[in-house]
Amino acid sequence: MAYANTEFASKLAPIVDLDDPTFDPFIGDEKANGDTLDIWSIFHALEAEGLVHHREYRRIFSPTPNAVLAPYNLDYYTVFGYDNCAQAILNADVFSNRPLAMTIGTAFGATISGMDAPDHSRYRRIFQKAFLPHMVRQWGEAIVDPVVEDLLDKVSGAGRCDLVKDFTFHYPFQVIYRQLNLPASDIKTFHKLATAQTSFFYAPDKAVEAGEKLGVYFTNMVRARRDDPGDDLVSALSLAEVEGERLPEEIVVSFLRQLTNAAGDTTYRGTSALLTGLLTNPEQLRAVREDRSLVAAAIEEALRWEPPVMTAMRMPTRDIEIDGHTIPKGAWVDFILGSANHDARKYPNPDQFDIFRSRLTRHIAFASGPHVCIGQHLAKVEMERALNAILDRLPALRLDPDMPPPQMRGFRARMPTHLAVRF
Ligand code: HEM
Repeated sequence: MAYANTEFASKLAPIVDLDDPTFDPFIGDEKANGDTLDIWSIFHALEAEGLVHHREYRRIFSPTPNAVLAPYNLDYYTVFGYDNCAQAILNADVFSNRPLAMTIGTAFGATISGMDAPDHSRYRRIFQKAFLPHMVRQWGEAIVDPVVEDLLDKVSGAGRCDLVKDFTFHYPFQVIYRQLNLPASDIKTFHKLATAQTSFFYAPDKAVEAGEKLGVYFTNMVRARRDDPGDDLVSALSLAEVEGERLPEEIVVSFLRQLTNAAGDTTYRGTSALLTGLLTNPEQLRAVREDRSLVAAAIEEALRWEPPVMTAMRMPTRDIEIDGHTIPKGAWVDFILGSANHDARKYPNPDQFDIFRSRLTRHIAFASGPHVCIGQHLAKVEMERALNAILDRLPALRLDPDMPPPQMRGFRARMPTHLAVRF
């Protein structure tokens, strides 16, 4: 499969930047997600008071009102604990995904994330075929490795770098970008628009504008691919059929909008957490370097320890009791996946990064049930290849002693601001 098929791309009208080109959705993340460091102690203190709080998750950490939801005048709840979160995400009949339609749907459009059955299962069945383990394993060698190698080539001679700025920020986005065969020269604009789509909590107009601009591009792309299909993911999605008919154009375009965001942003955070966990625990880093069969356990532990998606937003379709509290039909509930992954009843010493811990209970960083992450296998292939390449290419990797150590920060999409290393 060719990368940056310029002949094809040149037939499409080019992507258009935001009207205000100075808007920076990457620094906007601090505005949206704050700089809370030890979120786990805050969670444990709240959990000690009770697992169900009649309070908006966002307002526990941020004074900024939830811009996109203000007009709805909803009742808000925040729910902690593994069993409560697992029950909710498994039980899609009672817990609707409508809140995702109300938030990310404003930019993505008719995305499967915001759908409930039967529409959800009808469309998801088609999309997930492209992301099954045997499919994404092929991406590993063909796409992930070249992206990773290119980025490491740029820093490997320097003896030092910032693994966030120079590596994790770029590589998952570049992987999906190549897979969608988008024009190489426009990658910065696409990355910016893809990220701006999730600025709905603090700049909803920019989220909508970014979704519209990507929508115009992807609509043209899907139409062109339907007329002149190639051997690529967009052609496969454009031509896919559901119940004997082609997928509606709007559904394909919305999925493409979501892909550019979901595939870049989450794996970026997950890999940053993985590297933070290992670099701040040098004995575990050494163990993984010496025994690569531990890479998979390190990835699972990073996803448990600092899940890139902190909450699963749901809406009960009827009054429902959780832990002795009745949550009314139509309320907005944030189920805190991070609290589930740090539930001491499931994970002893939960706040500790420990690649050797027992994994009797599966973490729910990718959620579970009907909406379980479609990209989980791809994310793991990417993280595995990235970590192995970093260990191979950057010998004696360690934190830069002249720089402050990395710290995970934020309350919704946590990240270290830098990962300054020497090698
Ligand atoms: C470490 C990386 C990732 C994490 C932690 C993650 C996490 C999640 C979670 C928690 C959900 C469920 C959200 C909910 O229903 O409330 C989800 C859904 C989804 N993810 Fe991921 N994700 C990751 C990577 C990816 C990648 C690489 C892709 C793209 C290929 C992707 C595409 C999707 C899609 C399309 C959905 C919607 C599925 C549905 O509603 O049926 N994700 N992800």
